[in-house]
Amino acid sequence: MSFYSNQEVEALRKADGAYFLHPFTSIRDVDERGPKIINKAYRSRVYDIEGKEYIDGFAGLWYNNIGHGREEMIGAISEQMASLDVFHCFTGFSNVPAIQLAEKLSKIVPLVKAKVFFAGSGSEVNDSLFKIARLYWSALDMESKDIIISRNKGYHGVSYGSIQATRFPHYQEGFGPLPQGFAYINEPYCYYCPWEQEYPSCNLECAVALEEKIEELGADNVAAFIAEPVIGSGGVIVPPPGYYERIREICTRYNILFIADEVITGFGRTGKAFGIEHWNNVVPDAMALAKGITSGYVPLGAAVISDQIYRGLEKIDMFYHGFTYSGHPLACRAALKNIEILERENLKQNAAVIGRRLMEGFKNLDLEYIGEVRGKGLVLALELVADRETKQKPVHPVGFAVFENAYRRGLIVRPLDNDVVALSPSLILEKQDADRIVEILGQSIEEVMQ
Ligand SMILES: Cc1ncc(COP(=O)(O)O)c(C=O)c1O
Repeated sequence: MSFYSNQEVEALRKADGAYFLHPFTSIRDVDERGPKIINKAYRSRVYDIEGKEYIDGFAGLWYNNIGHGREEMIGAISEQMASLDVFHCFTGFSNVPAIQLAEKLSKIVPLVKAKVFFAGSGSEVNDSLFKIARLYWSALDMESKDIIISRNKGYHGVSYGSIQATRFPHYQEGFGPLPQGFAYINEPYCYYCPWEQEYPSCNLECAVALEEKIEELGADNVAAFIAEPVIGSGGVIVPPPGYYERIREICTRYNILFIADEVITGFGRTGKAFGIEHWNNVVPDAMALAKGITSGYVPLGAAVISDQIYRGLEKIDMFYHGFTYSGHPLACRAALKNIEILERENLKQNAAVIGRRLMEGFKNLDLEYIGEVRGKGLVLALELVADRETKQKPVHPVGFAVFENAYRRGLIVRPLDNDVVALSPSLILEKQDADRIVEILGQSIEEVMQ
């Protein structure tokens, strides 16, 4: 049921076209098709302005871990709004939710005695971490250590700094000149291995690539290596076993900071509290958190840094970095309640169980066009191919057509990298919804590929 008349819906569509520049959207496409106006959300479902129901198979943009419309969240956010709506944290000001959240995060991340810096988004967090990494080395009188290494297909945001760590064709085009001091290695993409090798006989060439790059640049010039434990927007790419153990060892040996970008993989999405925990005893020097930290109810990002980095910053004393909304009480209160719900309902366990069910479901479809089903917990992707044997790619990119087709059938997914269709539903997803997702997506893929 829509609360809007047909005329009102039409007027809103027109106003959208006239006034709204959409993020990551083809301007021509939204002009032609019109916007998809979402008007209501509850648990794993959203409803458009005409009242049509959709399974939110992507949890918004990988963020809505606890599901939409949770009464407890509304209560906590409203209570906070009524007591302290906002006050900044510059010049030593603080607030109770920010203090409590920093303590909570410090206790649940793999780092020991971690310190937390708050920002408003994943991009702001990564920008902050790049600046902190450089500041840290400069505090130790090693100013030359300033290069940030990231991986092809890595996504770390699109702000002016983070865009240089993000590696997608087209994303930098036309936006230059962009900041200097970034270098890249290939991604650990076993399905289409950049080195055309096979695991395990490859001896983890993808991790050795980091060592080679450091040697090429000189360790004295490298500040940090940043990586998503599971690559998200680049196609949901899960590195092979042993990868991060090797990466950690290389970073330690060359005295380079390892930043785990857990913006997608944090807060239970992969079936563990943090994605890096799928590799044995790998402790990063810093972590980027956002999205699932509040399940998106209020925007928030957090940069987690090791005690060692913090001690370095202490030497400089004055930290000339921060955002107006760093430590925003509303966002921090939302995060505290969100984490309480995630832990109480053990949603990472549900992510593991339902993730396996989805994975099996797609494998059982046995569609010749699904080259690979991959992922961890509730971050999954289907690699669509023209021929499963040869892994030949479809003649034209098909991801967007599958997304549109599934949308018409009442399911929201996300097309990535031309021929990859990704799923990242809320961690409260129920079995019946998982089965329905497999059914709808299977039908969409068949229809588009035939
Ligand atoms: C791994 C990762 N890092 C950083 C970001 C940037 O976050 P934001 O869009 O909140 O700036 C994203 C966004 O999708 C992401 O997936």
